[in-house]
Amino acid sequence: MEINYQETSNDLLTRIRIHETYGARNIDEWNTDVLKPTAGMKILDVGCGAGKQCFLFSDYTKGQAEIIGTDFSNELLGKANEKLAARGDKNIKFGFMDFNKRFEFEDNTFDLLSSAFAIYYASNLDFTFGEAHRVLKPGGRLFVTGPLPENKQMFYDIIKEATNQLIPPMPGSSRFKGEIYKTIEGKFPKTELLTFENPITFPEVAPFIEYVRASLSEDRKLWTAMFNGKDEYEALIGRITDVATRWLERDGKLVMTKVVGGILATK
Ligand SMILES: C[S@@+](CC[C@H](N)C(=O)[O-])C[C@H]1O[C@@H](n2cnc3c(N)ncnc32)[C@H](O)[C@@H]1O
Repeated sequence: MEINYQETSNDLLTRIRIHETYGARNIDEWNTDVLKPTAGMKILDVGCGAGKQCFLFSDYTKGQAEIIGTDFSNELLGKANEKLAARGDKNIKFGFMDFNKRFEFEDNTFDLLSSAFAIYYASNLDFTFGEAHRVLKPGGRLFVTGPLPENKQMFYDIIKEATNQLIPPMPGSSRFKGEIYKTIEGKFPKTELLTFENPITFPEVAPFIEYVRASLSEDRKLWTAMFNGKDEYEALIGRITDVATRWLERDGKLVMTKVVGGILATK
């Protein structure tokens, strides 16, 4: 399945900021609790975006792990490199890599391959997870996070009420527990599914609408079915704002729960 997905740094960084501001839990802590990366490890981050995970693993290992962050967005790699220059970590490198193509690394190179909200967009799962398996050392771990079908239920309910339209399955959540889990399980001797729930409480409508707008690229398939051009898009945002305002008046707050899955596999 071909999935045309381009993230912008503005949208991605807005969503990260909103999770950090209004979320009850911290996904970074969950990541490091699960993975406990240690000094001396070689780590590959696939679809690293602006480098969030790479900096997290670097901080956790006090700069003692060798970390490579890869993405196919030069814009996001630029942001990652800007932050790297400001922080001065010597153990992190960022580089271009399209996860739909051969990973340019030797077999058995990494102790950990992590991909947060990214690799599940792969066009050919068998190929991409075959590459992930190949570059991991025996005993190395793969950790892939992505949305589960229950993710952001309130978000989709509000859009459904505002548009009177059925919400098509999202490319991420609809495949995560099914095809993606099965593909990984077929290649790795040990695979498990972990879950992380993070209720995001919006005390007012404005940050929720900011989140809706910043989801445009992530939920591209949903949006392109719902509007044509800028005017229709703004009209749609207006209807979503009206519904969100009614819900907020009724309930006193808007609670959208992120329900994230983590597939942890060992080679
Ligand atoms: C939702 S963002 C997550 C970024 C980062 N992992 C984080 O958690 O902040 C998804 C990332 O996947 C990247 N991506 C999508 N398709 C890709 C591909 N074919 N090859 C490499 N990266 C890709 C996007 O550019 C984007 O940076």
